[in-house]
Amino acid sequence: MNTPFYTLGIETSCDETAVAVLKEETKLLANLVYSQAKLHSRYGGVVPEVASRDHLRKLPYLVREILEQAGISIGDVSLVAATYGPGLVGPLLVGLSHGKGLAFGLGVPFIGVNHLEGHIFAHRLNAPEMEPPFMALIVSGGHTILVVVKQYGRYQLVGSTVDDAAGEALDKVGKMLGIDYPAGAQLDRLAQEGNPKAIRFPRPMEGTPGFNFSFAGLKTAVLYHLRKHPSEKREDIAASFLESVVDVLAKKSIEATRRYHLERLVVVGGVAANSRLRQQLLVRAGKRGIDVLFPPIGLCTDNAAMIAAAGAFHHLSCGESHPFSLAPEPSLSL
Ligand code: KG4
Ligand code: ZN
Repeated sequence: MNTPFYTLGIETSCDETAVAVLKEETKLLANLVYSQAKLHSRYGGVVPEVASRDHLRKLPYLVREILEQAGISIGDVSLVAATYGPGLVGPLLVGLSHGKGLAFGLGVPFIGVNHLEGHIFAHRLNAPEMEPPFMALIVSGGHTILVVVKQYGRYQLVGSTVDDAAGEALDKVGKMLGIDYPAGAQLDRLAQEGNPKAIRFPRPMEGTPGFNFSFAGLKTAVLYHLRKHPSEKREDIAASFLESVVDVLAKKSIEATRRYHLERLVVVGGVAANSRLRQQLLVRAGKRGIDVLFPPIGLCTDNAAMIAAAGAFHHLSCGESHPFSLAPEPSLSL
């Protein structure tokens, strides 16, 4: 009998210290995410050096804990996969160095993973039987991207944001409404109490051909509205702002799926956790005969399960690994 193949995944590109153990390419054995959000909330955003130091403190203990949860010992690990970009250089260095050190010590291969590709692999973990092609909307704190997934490992970029990412705009508007960083989940709950039609905020780039997005102007529109109407219900502002974000994301991603003659739209990244986006996309894409799939919320926001899945695929299906000289790439693209 073949010995099982275990991948240890490590993710430290921003403010989540995350580890996971995957068996073969898609069987998730254990998944642990330690969020530093509380450390950064009083600064209104992630402070890179604070994040790096905390990754450094927590990572060794999280690795020990995840092996225990998976029921394997360190000597059973067959591959180490760690995010090498995009992200903050200090936090990336911590996870990457830790991963390379472990692989070197264990005498097993090491593979660096592109965080954006990792988000796509959250879908593979969730639905391993659903092979590409499909359209993927990666919508997170740092990115808003539409990409055709021709096969795993083969991507065609179709559109992206020209300024702020959707999650970035959500976090900034959340801050205007007095919500601590990261504001997405709380803004989501606040919006559920409000009227999405109370204020008609702009739908940026709605009529522009192509599949690019823009969220900076919308964020400014909310700021001006708040200055003019300081006593307007926060719930209504949250719901109306989110409605505008959701409307544009839904319209463009459905249009792109149709334009590229695809039948499936996969939505991943932290903002894919948004309840209004999930609900609206299911209804609107359903009417067009498009299947919409979202990973469970815990696999939408940053995690190491998706990093392990992308690493295991590239190693086992494509025969890839990286030299120990691999350096972080903060601006890595898909
Ligand atoms: O993918 P992710 O965890 O990290 C990045 O790669 O950026 O995404 C984080 C983003 C943050 O902007 C956060 O506010 C947002 O995802 N987010 C949400 C929700 N949960 C997290 N946005 C809207 N609704 C949510 N429920
Ligand atoms: Zn992410």
